[in-house]
Amino acid sequence: MKIIAHRGFSGVYPENTMLAFRKAIEIGADGIELDVHLSKDGQVMIIHDEALKRTTGLDGVVSDYTRAELEKISAGKTKNDEFGFTPIPSLEEYLAFMAEHKDKFTNIELKTAPVYYPEIEEKTLELVRKFDLEKNIIYSSFNWLSIERIQRLGTISETGLLFSGMKLYNQAHIIKALGINYFHPDFNDLTDEIVKSYLDNKVGLNVWTVNEIEDMKVCLSWNIDGLITNFPDRAISIAR
Ligand code: G3P
Ligand code: CA
Repeated sequence: MKIIAHRGFSGVYPENTMLAFRKAIEIGADGIELDVHLSKDGQVMIIHDEALKRTTGLDGVVSDYTRAELEKISAGKTKNDEFGFTPIPSLEEYLAFMAEHKDKFTNIELKTAPVYYPEIEEKTLELVRKFDLEKNIIYSSFNWLSIERIQRLGTISETGLLFSGMKLYNQAHIIKALGINYFHPDFNDLTDEIVKSYLDNKVGLNVWTVNEIEDMKVCLSWNIDGLITNFPDRAISIAR
């Protein structure tokens, strides 16, 4: 079971910052999950919400600011700014870092709903190719259209469909028919039966966001592909 640090090591460090990404790699996470939006000048930036308020304290949305402006804004509010200046990173900065860690992988979540950023898929793929990291990426999205679009661009990266808050049944055949590699369900929506049906149909499962040790143990028993967690340290301690 791969351990994937959700927004980096976000249980301890400010989410979606280079500090949280570096710490996740340092403690031995297999992969990192992050979220992307586009800036005013069309640059791919790493941040979860469209609105800046929760992580930075500022008003406005990502697309109100240029990359240069966003890179001067600290995203430490979720940890009460206790780590000092932790700027909003660009995807370019992140990928330059990961190019030095090619034994690790990244789950890039394309945030394309409800806001849709024209060509976010093209811009993301261009950067991933620039750093020769296509083999190290899983693209995911709640938006089926975004997954279809990144596939149509001819990427060799794997893809995963995100799902939340809906009653699950065995949709493995649909996911396979769409050429999608993984299903990314919310842990809370899963049952033993659902998990088995996906794995029996050879659809990989990366489950989020699993933060409690007891739940991590359940995931281990299911033999899923990946566990997405804010606390990769806890997952490492029970899985290895
Ligand atoms: O990739 C799993 C998870 O990140 C999806 O939800 O809201 O944390 O981006 P959210
Ligand atoms: Ca996400």
